[in-house]
Amino acid sequence: MTKITAAITAVGKYVPEYVLTNKELETLVDTNDEWITTRTGIKERRILKEEGKGTSFLAIKAAEDLLQKSNLNPEEIDMVIVATATPDLMVAATAAYVATEIGAVNAFSYDLQAACSSFLYGMSTASSYIESGRYKKVLLIGADKMSSILDYTDRATCIIFGDGAGAALFEPNTEGLGLQDEYLRSDGVGREFLKIEAGGSIMPPTEETVKNRRHFIQQEGRTVFKYAVSNMADVSEKILNRNNLTKNDVDWLVPHQANNRIIEATANRVGLESEKVMVNIHKYGNTTSATLPLLLADYEKVLKKGDNLIFAAFGGGFTWGAIYLKWAYNS
Ligand code: UT7
Repeated sequence: MTKITAAITAVGKYVPEYVLTNKELETLVDTNDEWITTRTGIKERRILKEEGKGTSFLAIKAAEDLLQKSNLNPEEIDMVIVATATPDLMVAATAAYVATEIGAVNAFSYDLQAACSSFLYGMSTASSYIESGRYKKVLLIGADKMSSILDYTDRATCIIFGDGAGAALFEPNTEGLGLQDEYLRSDGVGREFLKIEAGGSIMPPTEETVKNRRHFIQQEGRTVFKYAVSNMADVSEKILNRNNLTKNDVDWLVPHQANNRIIEATANRVGLESEKVMVNIHKYGNTTSATLPLLLADYEKVLKKGDNLIFAAFGGGFTWGAIYLKWAYNS
């Protein structure tokens, strides 16, 4: 029997129109363009400004871009996963609304939350459904409206994040393309260092929690940075070794876009020249669940069938990992 692998067969993206520049951030907090550029690599990020629009708005737009480019009939989609840390509502899956709005009326859908590793973990979930033969078309969307959980008086966080969404369709492949291997990890020690304290079951919302700004994301940047650098580099090296790949076999590193210095450290560890590293952090900042699919959409034109891609991500929780995937089409 031919082995079924799970391949990405189409991608789509959406970023909101509003551009929040480093210059504008200088008017909100005590920071400057030079610090942000040298410490993170970010020049600007996109913000969804319209009131009443949540993460589903971004996710729907990215899915519609994919549908339009691929000519896919949404009724053929079996399931929709929305990877997100900023769901529309605390209860009621954003994915269910997204699926209905895009016309995926035969799909079931749910959200997946693993902070900045949400899309990476979602790739594993989507692929498992395909490899098992249970479903034929799984739409994975990474979407986050980070501006909804940012404190624009906190310079440690508000300069980093942006809003955006990307989508990828997973389908069965019999040529051996698609997901080859994964190495996914988590460690609960990390939840102290990157979190939203209030609004969950430990600390439900009160007047106090709102007054004390505890519904915003907080991070101990330096600590997260150290863990991110060592773990993203470790898993990338591990997945190469485990699959007997040398740096020459790798066509692209697809790293989570949290900080240019983390991206460079990961690339250096596996000896990859910068031409093989996907980067768009300067345009969008850290869009959490959307960084990886936004990279795929931005680089789609230069990707070739058979290219070896190494995905790596690190996020709150802590959660992190790497995935080895063979690209399945020329665009
Ligand atoms: O995606 C999920 C995972 N998240 C990450 O991977 C983020 C990881 N962390 C980082 O990327 C970095 O830690 C940050 C970009 C958040 C911060 O960069 P850093 O080089 O670690 O800075 P730091 O926190 O060590 O601060 C260095 C200095 C401090 O001043 P002193 O104490 O040396 O005088 C900060 O107060 O920079 C100061 N600083 C700023 N200055 C201007 C901190 N934030 C800013 C700012 N503008 N926005």
